[in-house]
Amino acid sequence: MKVKFMDLGRQPIANNFLESRENIDNEYQFHLTVCFDEKTKLVSLGEFVPPKLMFNDSYVYHASLSRTMRSHFGRAARLLRSEFNPACVLEIGSNDGVFLRHFAKETTCAVEPCGNFAKLTNELGYKTYERFWSEKLADEIIEERGRQDLIYAANCMCHIQNLHDALLAISKVLSDEGIFVFEDPSLLKMIERGSYDQIYDEHAHIFSVTALQNLLNMWDLDIFRVQEISVHGGSSRIFACRKGTRSIETSVDDHLVKEHAAGLHNVAAYQNFAERAEQSKNQLTGLLTELKRRGYKIVSYGATSKSTTVFNYCKITTELIDYIVDITPDKQNKFSPGVHIPVVSPEVGFDETVDYAFLGAWNYEREICDKERKFLETGRFITHVPYVRILEGENP
Ligand code: TYD
Repeated sequence: MKVKFMDLGRQPIANNFLESRENIDNEYQFHLTVCFDEKTKLVSLGEFVPPKLMFNDSYVYHASLSRTMRSHFGRAARLLRSEFNPACVLEIGSNDGVFLRHFAKETTCAVEPCGNFAKLTNELGYKTYERFWSEKLADEIIEERGRQDLIYAANCMCHIQNLHDALLAISKVLSDEGIFVFEDPSLLKMIERGSYDQIYDEHAHIFSVTALQNLLNMWDLDIFRVQEISVHGGSSRIFACRKGTRSIETSVDDHLVKEHAAGLHNVAAYQNFAERAEQSKNQLTGLLTELKRRGYKIVSYGATSKSTTVFNYCKITTELIDYIVDITPDKQNKFSPGVHIPVVSPEVGFDETVDYAFLGAWNYEREICDKERKFLETGRFITHVPYVRILEGENP
C-alpha cells in the first residue's frame, strides 16, 4: 500500500523558466505530494508530470557549467575505465556529454531525450539516441551495437517514472558480465539533512538502497557495491550486475543497516521529515521577513530546481527576494517558475548592494564561497540545510 506523507502544495515545472510575464497565466502546475510504498519501500511522487513537459529541447541544466560536476564525472569515468575496462559503454541521460567525453567515440553511445543536448553530443561524434529510455530502444541498441559492458546513468534513473520498464530494458541490454552503475540523490541524506527541496517534478523517486535492492532483485540484478558521493547534496552510486556474477561487497550491507537504523523501512521516519520541513519553512520565511524589515537587500544564488520547491512551498516572492543570480545563460533574463522572481547573471546582479544571498545552490556551497570571497567581505549567505541559518563568513 502507498501512504502519502507529505504535501508541498501546487508547484510548477521546476526548470521551466518563463520568457516573459505573458507566459505566466498558462503556466503548468501540479500538486506535489510524496508517498511511501510499504511493500517495496520506494519513495515516489504522488502525481507524475508528463515527461515531455520536463525533458525537451529547451532543457536548461548543463552539467558541464560547474567545476565540481566536471571533475566529479572525470573522476567517475577514470575509475570505471581503470577498474572494469568496458569494451562498450552506454550512457542513459547523457546531458551535455560531461561523462561521455572521457570514453572512445566508436564504442560509446548515449540516450538523451532533450534535443538540444542530443544534438550537441551527436556533433561531438557520440551516437546519441534522442529518445526516452524504453524496452523498444534497448532492442534497437542490441541490434545495432550489441549488448553493453557498462551502462551508466547519473541523475537519470530517479527521473524515470516507470522503473519496471526501465529495469527490464537494462537487464536486456546488459552483457553477461556487464555492470550497471547509476547515481542519484540519496534518500538517507535527504532525510538526515532535512533537504525537502530534493523533491520536485523531475525526481519521480528518491532512492534508498533498501528500495533499489527490492526493485533490482525483481529483474535478476544484484547490487554489489554502494558508494556515498557528495554531489547534488548527497548521492549514492549503485553498482549492479546480473545475479550471481560478482561477489557482494560489505558496502551494500553497511548501507542497508544505516537505512534501517534511520527507520527508512517505516512511514514514521517520513512523517517526521514532513514535520521538520514545515518548521524549516516557518523559520526561513521568518528570517527573510525580519531581514527585509530591517531594510536589507536579499537575493538568491543559483536558480535551482531545489529553490523552485523552496520558494513555491514557502511562498517566497519578490517581496522577500529581489532577484536570483545564476550563471546559466538559458535561465538568465527569465522569471523563476511559479513565484516569478527575475533571474539575472551574477555579473549583473551580484554586487556590493547585496546584503544577503539565499543559497539556492547550497550543494555548491564550497565552490560558491571560494568564488565569492569579495562578497563575503560584506555580505552573508543564508542556507536552510540542514537547518535555517546565516552562514558565517568563513570559507568552508
Ligand atoms: P543544480 O545543483 O543542478 O540544482 P538542481 O538540480 O536543484 O537544479 O543547479 C545548480 C544551479 O546553480 C545551476 O543553475 C547553476 C547555478 N550555479 C551558479 O549560478 N553559480 C555557481 O557558481 C554554481 C556552482 C552554480
